[in-house]
Amino acid sequence: MQKQIVDPLDLKTYPAACLRTKTVDVKDFTEETRGMVRAMADLMYKNQGIGLAAPQAGLGLSIVIVDAGCGLKVFINPKVVKRSREKDTLEEGCLSLPGVGVNVARPKEIEIRAKDRDGNVVSGKFDGLEAKAIQHEIDHLYGKLIIDYMNPVARFISAGRFKREMRKKRFGDTIKVL
Ligand code: NI
Repeated sequence: MQKQIVDPLDLKTYPAACLRTKTVDVKDFTEETRGMVRAMADLMYKNQGIGLAAPQAGLGLSIVIVDAGCGLKVFINPKVVKRSREKDTLEEGCLSLPGVGVNVARPKEIEIRAKDRDGNVVSGKFDGLEAKAIQHEIDHLYGKLIIDYMNPVARFISAGRFKREMRKKRFGDTIKVL
């Protein structure tokens, strides 16, 4: 059995300050780094998310994970190096904003450069839900949330709904929770 070197992580929800704090790059790729990635994956799967960024677990590091149905992908210190001009819109949810769905327009296709959990440079092209999830998670590394894409009226209307849903901590069936 693998020794658990990182304690289970808790999900941080809005307005936790860690969600608004820019992360720092990972410099050392150690057993602890890999343990954090495993603990993040446990937290994401437990909450049925399809992506998670380190700030959502209270970690100030540039780590995102995504599993949009094609297996777990780990991106450490990720950078978007190319984006398609063409955008499309998806109603996105966020594990840190229970009950809130926001229509967000993002590039359809992106190219990412990052490191894997052993510190190797990795790159890849993504589209569809995976591309959306990766962009959503990278926003988290800069303290950006889906509510920042709302217009002020929509934000005002959803504030009441958000407060109610925070108490229930659940989503409707149709929103993709990233
Ligand atoms: Ni999110």
